[in-house]
Amino acid sequence: MPPAPRTPARLVVLVSGSGTNLQALIDASTAPDFGAEIVAVGADRDGIEGLARAERHGIETFVLSTRDFADRAAWDEALGAQVEAYAPDLVVLAGFMKLTGPAFLSRFGGRTLNTHPALSPAFPGMHGPRDALAYGVKVTGATLFVVDEGVDTGPIVAQVAVPVLDDDDESSLHERIKTSERAMLVEWVGTLARNGFHLDDRAVRLGDVNPR
Ligand code: GRF
Repeated sequence: MPPAPRTPARLVVLVSGSGTNLQALIDASTAPDFGAEIVAVGADRDGIEGLARAERHGIETFVLSTRDFADRAAWDEALGAQVEAYAPDLVVLAGFMKLTGPAFLSRFGGRTLNTHPALSPAFPGMHGPRDALAYGVKVTGATLFVVDEGVDTGPIVAQVAVPVLDDDDESSLHERIKTSERAMLVEWVGTLARNGFHLDDRAVRLGDVNPR
């Protein structure tokens, strides 16, 4: 997380939906010893509960829709510039349903986290719970990782296992995953914010010594 961590660390959180993971971070960051504050919440669409949650807590928001840009590269560049305006130490994608691209990662690579509702490397992409059910696995879960150029392929920060029950449907399974996912997100965003971190190949190590 270069440069060295500030206390509290500045977080920008990006959302696309209901924002329950965002809410967990908002709630956690009210504790003075959490080590991070949310300085802005961004979205790729209007009218979502995630933005409303931020507004209710007096957090600045912004929306950048891909429809308003000539192409995905232009949107990606604008997103990076907008996020940079808040000078974050860490960016957290919390149910953000767009891939960040090269321009965004040139600014925030190595300090952008994403959470995925499956145990990577299994079931990457948009439908982790559905794909786990269809495959018939008995255990799935959630993965917190450092975003790279791939789809849910980045270095893993933490994982949590969640059982698949016989009578699960996609919704019940996803809700059970999300309960564990939120706890993992809060625990590890706080840990990374307080300690800093660096990458050692695919290993995420605490401490802000960045060998690169
Ligand atoms: C989470 O399970 C996240 O991993 C996935 O979408 C869900 C977002 O939930 N990509 P919420 O918007 O935080 O409630």
